[in-house]
Amino acid sequence: MRKMNIVAAMASNRGIGCNGDLPWRLKKEFKHFTSLIRRLDDPSKKNAVILGRKTWESVPATSRPIKGKINVIVTSQADYTASGEDVYVAHSLEEAMTLLSSPPLSDTVETVWNLGGSYIYKEAIDKKLVDKMYLTRIRKEFDADVFFPLYSDDDFEPASDPDVPSEVQEENGVEWTYHVLKMK
Ligand SMILES: NC(=O)c1ccc[n+]([C@@H]2O[C@H](COP(=O)([O-])OP(=O)(O)OC[C@H]3O[C@@H](n4cnc5c(N)ncnc54)[C@H](OP(=O)(O)O)[C@@H]3O)[C@@H](O)[C@H]2O)c1
Repeated sequence: MRKMNIVAAMASNRGIGCNGDLPWRLKKEFKHFTSLIRRLDDPSKKNAVILGRKTWESVPATSRPIKGKINVIVTSQADYTASGEDVYVAHSLEEAMTLLSSPPLSDTVETVWNLGGSYIYKEAIDKKLVDKMYLTRIRKEFDADVFFPLYSDDDFEPASDPDVPSEVQEENGVEWTYHVLKMK
């Protein structure tokens, strides 16, 4: 089965979400996220995004499905429906990856991005379904009710990406750094 990339932004207390939303508004960081998942080597293909059901519902209705991507929502609800172009519902992370690894989607999809939240991040890491992890580490604590899962540094090695700046970023007094890790 193919592997996926994780993309996540976390605060210094590992917080990633609060009340069904991001704990912060950082336009520059969000732009970095959107340009990462938009990148394509083969313009005839599309990238896929996998989202937990709550993350899917946290995307404003006007911005979902995420444009130009194959959107796969993971839910345990047998009767869950979501409409829109290129939208699929899967009932486990494995089902999502099987869908994206089999024809016809296997021929169309270039990169699979796991957009979270915490359940599907953890499952992908624990089951070693990850190729690269693109992590934004925000140098500030934020109130949060959802956290990035703990992972072992032994499972990853530092990687680089020419499109990921190495210098410290800043917006409205909040600083952060970008990290690219490759799963061993
Ligand atoms: N900072 C970031 O990078 C980032 C990224 C993503 C999300 N977030 C934030 O995180 C929060 C949402 O994340 P979350 O962790 O609470 O929820 P989530 O992972 O988006 O969604 C959880 C739901 O996904 C479904 N699900 C997850 N794993 C499943 C599995 N293996 N099999 C079947 N269904 C599964 C279940 O849906 P059902 O209940 O329907 O069965 C579960 O209740 C929001 O605040 C969002 O803004 C932040």
